[in-house]
Amino acid sequence: MNFRIALLAGDGIGPEVINEAVKVSDAIAKKFNHNIEWKSALTGAAAIDAVGDPYPNETHDVCLSSDAILFGAIGHPRFDNDPSAKVRPEQGLLRMRKKLGLFANVRPTFTFPSLLNKSPLKKERIEGTDLVFLRELTGGIYFGERGRKDDGNTAFDTCTYNRDEIKRIAVKGFELAMKRKKKLCCVDKANVLESSRLWRETFQEMEKDFPDVKVSYEFVDAVAMRLVQWPNSYDVLVTENLFGDILTDEASVISGSMGLMPSASVGIENALYEPIHGSFPEAAGLGIANPLATILSAAMMFEMSFGLHNEGASIREAVNKSLAEGKVTKDLAEKGENFLTTSEVGNYLIELIR
Ligand code: IPM
Ligand code: MN
Repeated sequence: MNFRIALLAGDGIGPEVINEAVKVSDAIAKKFNHNIEWKSALTGAAAIDAVGDPYPNETHDVCLSSDAILFGAIGHPRFDNDPSAKVRPEQGLLRMRKKLGLFANVRPTFTFPSLLNKSPLKKERIEGTDLVFLRELTGGIYFGERGRKDDGNTAFDTCTYNRDEIKRIAVKGFELAMKRKKKLCCVDKANVLESSRLWRETFQEMEKDFPDVKVSYEFVDAVAMRLVQWPNSYDVLVTENLFGDILTDEASVISGSMGLMPSASVGIENALYEPIHGSFPEAAGLGIANPLATILSAAMMFEMSFGLHNEGASIREAVNKSLAEGKVTKDLAEKGENFLTTSEVGNYLIELIR
């Protein structure tokens, strides 16, 4: 098969980890007789510096004309402590999600047998953890009305959802649960928020269409707690944008390192794949970034966008083997010793894939 893939490396460690994902994807393409045409485009602080816009129209056009998008990370500390900055890298990401209609953010959390002792949680608590968050990505408080009043002394952000927005992410959740353990958790704050009550109402109405799925309704604060107590009790969790942002960061470290978990953001026409971790600017250029989250995101791309499950499995197998053999970056090395650089990990995976 022939694919066109948009490559948005972004900021910080983005370019380094993207580089390894490209190397591994090319090795997979070679092995399975595919042809990938990569098309790079600017995003984030890098795009602000080059053209003054974190998501230029040209980048949007590249995304629209591609079969999938592979994304690194965006963000730069020089914007973080400047609340008055008019243009911010994150605005690019949000605009991209909205303009491409990427409403469903798929964020899995799974464990690697060889890394169980790296988790901040006890081994017996996390063994067998294999859950997926579906985070709504184009609505809620991220995109609601916001502003200042009273001469700037009062600020507000609003969380708005309509039934159709809830329904389309819920359908994805029910369908995913059907393919997995048929367990779905609707995460909300329906004891306080009206938008959450509409979420719950919508899910309850849809239960009859998916009689085989066992649905639970849990408050977001309780889920934050249970996630570290019994992560292996969950299967599919669906939630709104901000709750999902917070809970998926919490979930992402269960596997042992921030540098491990991949994600997909899918819409009707387009799909974007990216590591869950951020741009980690302190590590940029040092060769210590863990490329596995991005490489596993490429595996999700082969599986979800192209339906190529053997290709995805081949990447996952190589990743598992490299971890088991201790061919890892600094974040995962025993006593922080004998680690490989970012590109050495990529090279090792390529050898395994060949
Ligand atoms: C994420 C990030 C973004 C978000 C930021 C960079 C805008 O934290 O993808 O989770 O909040 O959605
Ligand atoms: Mn986040």
